[in-house]
Amino acid sequence: MNACHLLIVLLLVSNITSSSGVLDVFAAVASYVFNTFFDRDDLLPFDPKRLEKDLRDSLFGQHIVYDVVLKAVTSFMTDSNPNKPLVLSFHGTAGVGKNHVAKIIAKNIYENGIESHHVHMYISEYHFPHKVMSDLYKAQLKAEIYKSVSSFPRSMFIFDEMDKMQPQLIDVIKPFLDYEANIDGVSFRNAIFIFLSNAGGNVIAEVALDFWREGKDREELWMNSKELETKILQNIFNDKNSGFLHSSIIDHHLVDHYIPFLPLELKHVRQCVMTEMHHLNMIQDYDLADEVARDLPFFPAEEKIFAVKGCKSVRQKLVLYAD
Ligand SMILES: Nc1ncnc2c1ncn2[C@@H]1O[C@H](COP(=O)(O)OP(=O)(O)OP(=O)(O)O)[C@@H](O)[C@H]1O
Ligand SMILES: [Mg+2]
Repeated sequence: MNACHLLIVLLLVSNITSSSGVLDVFAAVASYVFNTFFDRDDLLPFDPKRLEKDLRDSLFGQHIVYDVVLKAVTSFMTDSNPNKPLVLSFHGTAGVGKNHVAKIIAKNIYENGIESHHVHMYISEYHFPHKVMSDLYKAQLKAEIYKSVSSFPRSMFIFDEMDKMQPQLIDVIKPFLDYEANIDGVSFRNAIFIFLSNAGGNVIAEVALDFWREGKDREELWMNSKELETKILQNIFNDKNSGFLHSSIIDHHLVDHYIPFLPLELKHVRQCVMTEMHHLNMIQDYDLADEVARDLPFFPAEEKIFAVKGCKSVRQKLVLYAD
């Protein structure tokens, strides 16, 4: 039905005797036109070069993430007939760029980036706080994913704090992630699911620290070196408190890539401070950036190699130094 047909139907069914009736009709038509045309416009033509540039320019110290995200997203977005939705699982300690990368991906797919109404963000402790309400959450989540994808196949779902999510809720997502997923005539093959969690973060940090202690270059660390991916998986499985453990997503191999975010070193935090200076319209001062970065906590206690909170609270620290 196009906007014109809808207008006629609305005029017939509504009793337009008052000006408020007319306004209602116009509001309905405006909303229909907005949803129909604006939604379509929101999807950007995918440009792998742009994604590459965004990752290169604004993601620091994450060569594995850069490589895997660029390849996985590009191959998915340029595949006219994918056989399953794209499912990425980001792992790492605090402030290392998991949300930041999810934003970069969204920015390369939708005009409004993460603000697009095709991007659905769930933060487990915020959206699903009460265990006793899990049946209600399950029904709502299922209905929302189904409704979103049926009206817009290239929808994106981001689950933050995935490790804190109740397993029953994770299992609700499972059918949507599967190969050739087709539920009541709706295909989910063009949708994107991104899971963010701290699960496996400590294991990633240990591997990175071992590497540093062995005097090896950080950039030599890859997914298959030191069996990083296997270690992350084992770690998630062994974590009794993790929602992942009890869910069937892992056993069914529905996650395309488990992506390790490495802990950030001083030089990366300094780069974050320089970026924040730019955002705050300050003059980019390397010495000041160095001072701010060094003021943040680092671990392990003796060597102080990695930033405890990554680039989190860099802005808050920086404003204390601003005149
Ligand atoms: N690797 C990075 N490169 C560039 N900026 C980064 C990086 N990591 C973090 N940042 C900056 O720090 C902010 C906080 O990072 P982000 O929210 O992505 O952390 P996170 O990994 O999701 O952490 P948490 O597990 O605590 O949620 C980002 O908005 C970004 O500005
Ligand atoms: Mg986060």
